[in-house]
Amino acid sequence: MVDKQVGWGAEHADVLVLGIETSCDETAASVVKGGRMVLSNVIASQVELHRLYGGVVPEIASRKHIELIMPVIDLALKKAKIKPTDLDCIAVTYGPGLVGALLVGLSSAKAMALALGCPLIGINHIEGHIYANVLEHKDVEPPLVCLTVSGGHTDLLYIDAYGDYKILGRTRDDAAGEAFDKIARVLGLDYPGGPEIAKQALSGDPKAIDFPRGLIHEDTYDFSFSGLKTAAINHVHNLQQKGETLPISDIAASLQAAIVDVLVHKTLAAASAYKVDTILLSGGVGANEALRDQLRQDAQALGINLYYPSKVLCTDNGAMIACAGHYRFLKGQQSPWDLNAAPQLRLGDPV
Ligand code: KG4
Ligand code: ZN
Repeated sequence: MVDKQVGWGAEHADVLVLGIETSCDETAASVVKGGRMVLSNVIASQVELHRLYGGVVPEIASRKHIELIMPVIDLALKKAKIKPTDLDCIAVTYGPGLVGALLVGLSSAKAMALALGCPLIGINHIEGHIYANVLEHKDVEPPLVCLTVSGGHTDLLYIDAYGDYKILGRTRDDAAGEAFDKIARVLGLDYPGGPEIAKQALSGDPKAIDFPRGLIHEDTYDFSFSGLKTAAINHVHNLQQKGETLPISDIAASLQAAIVDVLVHKTLAAASAYKVDTILLSGGVGANEALRDQLRQDAQALGINLYYPSKVLCTDNGAMIACAGHYRFLKGQQSPWDLNAAPQLRLGDPV
């Protein structure tokens, strides 16, 4: 029996969903019970492998997903102490992401769902990131403004009701995480660059270099980080040409401050314009402490509550996909068996 009152917070306590996520460089599977109880959350990270190349190599990612996907799913079921036949449905990321990587998770999910006779539910990866907040914060209720910011996307949304996303703005070029990663590489820091920049920034001066804050004064909720990326790379090259030692922590702190300023400014402007008292932060860059702190402080000053997931649920994982799948399952939604990987999928595209 499925609860008929399906909304943002509605859930059915006994439903068991397997969530599978392979859109980039994490092979992840998780079993979530009743929408919010994480029975297992297995994440096999390929970071060490891609670090050798300074970034994700799509072909290597696909091959590694093929090796890891079944052991990861097996482990997720084992840790959850359930049998495959106990599952009510299988939710899987079908986009956006790397096509070869997505196909591994999607094909595995299809094969399992078909064999078990249970529904297959394709999930938009960005929607998954948003649901990491639903998973952890029972009190979260729309209407709200959500900033979802990651290695592949930077989207500012107004969410009026469950599943109803109004895109207020998105990046016109690089995603914020991409800016962190690319500039970190130029600074000789490891991949992924976000956490490395954040670490270096702790001992740097955020005012040392006045990096550009793209579109901050423009009347738009869109973002642009390519100017910042070029400015940071030029700054580094100029110092290198003069044979000067790179002030890595000052560059990191100034870069982080520029990214955080823009993200916080646009998010608060949207929250004020839409008169919401709740802001959600999600996605890998949502793990950034400076961003969390500045957004929390500035939101509090306006009487707005800020929610973000724990760090393990900010970056890619299967639990957020299972949680998003739970609510679609309760609505009776199911994907067709010919669902294809959608590398360029955007939030709000028809499912
Ligand atoms: O959500 P995610 O795991 O994958 C994508 O959907 O892209 O996000 C990964 C991105 C990377 O760009 C990484 O550098 C960034 O999130 N990231 C961070 C932090 N942790 C991860 N950026 C800034 N500060 C962090 N602490
Ligand atoms: Zn992600």
